[in-house]
Amino acid sequence: MVSYRPAVRDDARAIAELYQMAAGGVADYIWSMLAEPDEALLDVGAGRFARENEDFSYQHCTMAEDDGAVLGMVHAYPMHEVMDVDDDMDPVLKPYCELESAPGLYIAGIACYPAARGKGVGTHLLELTRQRARKEGLPELSLIAFEENTGSVRLYEREGFDIVRRRAIIPHELIQYGGEAFLMVETL
Ligand SMILES: CC(C)(COP(=O)(O)OP(=O)(O)OC[C@H]1O[C@@H](n2cnc3c(N)ncnc32)[C@H](O)[C@@H]1OP(=O)(O)O)[C@@H](O)C(=O)NCCC(=O)NCCS
Repeated sequence: MVSYRPAVRDDARAIAELYQMAAGGVADYIWSMLAEPDEALLDVGAGRFARENEDFSYQHCTMAEDDGAVLGMVHAYPMHEVMDVDDDMDPVLKPYCELESAPGLYIAGIACYPAARGKGVGTHLLELTRQRARKEGLPELSLIAFEENTGSVRLYEREGFDIVRRRAIIPHELIQYGGEAFLMVETL
């Protein structure tokens, strides 16, 4: 039976793997800039999620598991104000910064391992995130979706999210999608 629990530090590697699947190459792009020579990108990600009191911390993640085996996770943190975007910002990352929305609970990543998809886990992770936002008095859920990831966009629309802003994705060898990225918001 699937159960849901707050993440612990030992989940950091699984969180990084799942976050990497959700991020369409944007995580790899950021981690590649932070990596030491010869450091694997997933090690960079796991190290970031093992930290505490940061937006990118296991403390902001909820895990889905079955009999101790991780199936998926959602990573969401409160966004109180949007980042200032200026012209000398990294061009690959700029569209995603322009798709921030505040105040609210920002879903930075949601993913299930391939064998666990299509069984309702993602829908339940979204519902837990919605309940958390209401409890914390946050007025909206937001996330960035990729136009070409049509299955995920369909799920978010069915769950009550609307596309409120769009930006063209800047191509890069690490970025898996073309087309546009969408800011999707669900008002609570
Ligand atoms: C998107 C995702 C988190 C949804 O979780 P899930 O447990 O599979 O979703 P549910 O079973 O609750 O809901 C099913 C819906 O999810 C979407 N979905 C299912 N499999 C999917 C897949 N392989 N990739 C993307 N979306 C998928 C579909 O909209 C599906 O609805 P449908 O039955 O009408 O086609 C999950 O499929 C996944 O991990 N995908 C890869 C990572 C990803 O794309 N994350 C989102 C980035 S914005």
